Amino acid sequence: MNIRTAVMEDLESITKVEAACFPKEEAATSSDFEKRLRVYPEYFWLLEDGGKIIGFINGMVTDEPFIRDEMFKDASLHNKNGMWQTIFGVNTIPEYRRKGYAAMLMEKVISDAKAQGRKGCVLTCKDKLIHYYEKFGYVNEGISSSAHGGAVWYDMRLTF
Ligand SMILES: CC(C)(COP(=O)(O)OP(=O)(O)OC[C@H]1O[C@@H](n2cnc3c(N)ncnc32)[C@H](O)[C@@H]1OP(=O)(O)O)[C@@H](O)C(=O)NCCC(=O)NCCS
Repeated sequence: MNIRTAVMEDLESITKVEAACFPKEEAATSSDFEKRLRVYPEYFWLLEDGGKIIGFINGMVTDEPFIRDEMFKDASLHNKNGMWQTIFGVNTIPEYRRKGYAAMLMEKVISDAKAQGRKGCVLTCKDKLIHYYEKFGYVNEGISSSAHGGAVWYDMRLTF
């Protein structure tokens, strides 16, 4: 297994993994990813098994303390000097789940964000995954302003 950052050629594979992991109303589209890959390909962490992408994390860097829905669509809001590494999505394709792969990706994002001098990581998640992110040290800050996909999301923050 190998973790690497992304290039534009990964667009199709990334879009397929996302579609396998999220319902249509929540999944980022090929067009969303294309915009992100143009601006911040180095903030994609792809987990490969023999060249096949089996999971990934992506998210912009920002000085804003909370994730807001505009960030998912507008890659220009990325600020490489920002304090917070956001995590827009954590994906592992179904047949590779419950083997610690998402945790492997999360540990790598956290160590890279620390090395880059960030203040911490922020993400939004549904209630069923709060306990999962707490295992990495994230703290639940309550219901998010996000209305992404019509679901209820919680703001989670890991401060270094
Ligand atoms: C969430 C997800 C990334 C976990 O990937 P993974 O590689 O299986 O993660 P790990 O092996 O590190 O950890 C698995 C843990 O996730 C948690 N988990 C995953 N899905 C869960 C669910 N539906 N309900 C409750 N807990 C869940 C459990 O704590 C599980 O631990 P367990 O096996 O001891 O019960 C993967 O299930 C996925 O892609 N889901 C769909 C997309 C999604 O919801 N992403 C997160 C929101 S951003």
